[in-house]
Amino acid sequence: MNESQDSPDTGPNWGASAGNAWVAIQDLTDSIFEPVERLLTEEVASGEGNRVLDVGCGTGATTVAIAHRLGPEAVVSGIDVSAPMIEASIERAASAGVEIDFTLADAETHDFGELRFDQVVSRCGVMFFSDPVAAFSNLARVGTGGRLRAITWRSYAENPFMTVAEEAAAPLLEGFESRRSNDAPGQFGLAEEEYVNEVLGGAGWQDINLRPVDIECSFPESELVRYFSGLGPLARHLDDLPDDQIPENLVETVSEAFSPCVRERTVSFTCAFWMIEANAP
Ligand SMILES: C[S@@+](CC[C@H](N)C(=O)[O-])C[C@H]1O[C@@H](n2cnc3c(N)ncnc32)[C@H](O)[C@@H]1O
Repeated sequence: MNESQDSPDTGPNWGASAGNAWVAIQDLTDSIFEPVERLLTEEVASGEGNRVLDVGCGTGATTVAIAHRLGPEAVVSGIDVSAPMIEASIERAASAGVEIDFTLADAETHDFGELRFDQVVSRCGVMFFSDPVAAFSNLARVGTGGRLRAITWRSYAENPFMTVAEEAAAPLLEGFESRRSNDAPGQFGLAEEEYVNEVLGGAGWQDINLRPVDIECSFPESELVRYFSGLGPLARHLDDLPDDQIPENLVETVSEAFSPCVRERTVSFTCAFWMIEANAP
């Protein structure tokens, strides 16, 4: 398999194409998902204990925001499986002047040793495990006596914005289809409430509760092409296509498909998330 390709079995290739793409576009994702960062940071600040682990921390936006919010007494760590993203996290923390311990590792299997955290948190970083029960068991161990607060996407059907680009591009690209299910592992891998209860319960978490949260996000229309050609399955597919195989009308067709979301030169959409809450015994 081409190193840069995503796979339907293992999800996005975070170590290569998907990770590099997120780093390249982090200024845009930082601002689009800032309301989600705020929600998680507030949630952490309202909890007890200042030892916090950010799982699938990506380029560190939420990790740094949490460290800022909790102050220098806090012990904040981030773990991510993607080298380019951990590097970007380290740079972000250094320029923000906060001390954070970042680990490049798979949160599913990483041996945290004697480390323990009061709060295990994540903004959309826990839907990609190959064995979710094993992964959440590992997180329950490291979070012994603490709590989980993980923001994850609800279903693809409740997040139509997320597939606009794919739907519009699919008829133009041979062998490319829009997602029509809650892919696991993948963005919508923890969309189904019953499944999340099964996974977390099987992993030993208690008092499991899924709270639906709808958040308005937006970005300037001038960033639209950069958005859909930089993030998501369409972008990864285009990365692997030689330029001469990209239909001439693709950018125009896909841009046009977003027009119902554009008002006053701003692209706006609602994100349907779960706030997954649980306690580790
Ligand atoms: C959608 S991004 C979210 C990044 C970050 N939390 C944010 O909100 O900006 C998902 C992140 O999960 C990470 N990830 C995926 N599988 C992982 C695993 N098994 N262990 C640790 N991190 C993982 C990816 O590398 C990626 O950084």
